[in-house]
Amino acid sequence: MSQQISILGFAGSLRRESFNRALLRAAHELLPSEADLTTFDLEGIPPFNADKENDPVPKVTEFKAAVRAADALLIVTPEYNYSMPGVLKNALDAASRPYGDNALDDKPLAIMGASSGMLGTARAQYHLRQSCVFLNMHPLNRPEVMVPFAQEKIDANGVVIDEKTRQKIAELLQALVAWTRRLKS
Ligand code: FNR
Repeated sequence: MSQQISILGFAGSLRRESFNRALLRAAHELLPSEADLTTFDLEGIPPFNADKENDPVPKVTEFKAAVRAADALLIVTPEYNYSMPGVLKNALDAASRPYGDNALDDKPLAIMGASSGMLGTARAQYHLRQSCVFLNMHPLNRPEVMVPFAQEKIDANGVVIDEKTRQKIAELLQALVAWTRRLKS
């Protein structure tokens, strides 16, 4: 199968100088030639309210359409209080509703994340994987890209300068393309 794989990437941080947004930018540079990466900014997705789930704001409709149009997802998660940030969880909640209209259903995905701490978002990533069960998403198991002490690996311009981290991101993207092809065939 030689068809291009389209990937939608989004980061669970709204911070301008976010380490996780920096990882996502690096993914653009490290993408295999057989894949395209589009990014989506989660800023503007309102707190999910089930009373309004049948009349979503345009940003949510746009997010769901972008998810549906992609062959695979790349989710870049920070770790907040040993879990994924509310911004990311909220976006997944919004994309999964109303019941029966889960845009995330059956999507292959890869996960990565950077934190200033020593476990590099491990706990957040495992919480995200737990949500993937109910969402019926198909996360890639390996490689796990958990970037600890991100302040030492990403410079003041938001460039990932650590060569091992860049290599891991490249491996993750290659594995995501292969995983997506396998699930599609
Ligand atoms: C954090 N941070 C953090 N780091 C970590 O390794 N484990 C954690 O549980 C937490 N918890 C946490 C909670 C909250 C509310 C904040 C704001 C931060 C630190 C976090 O890794 C750091 O702020 C990163 O820079 C966040 O990612 P971005 O915004 O740089 O992408």
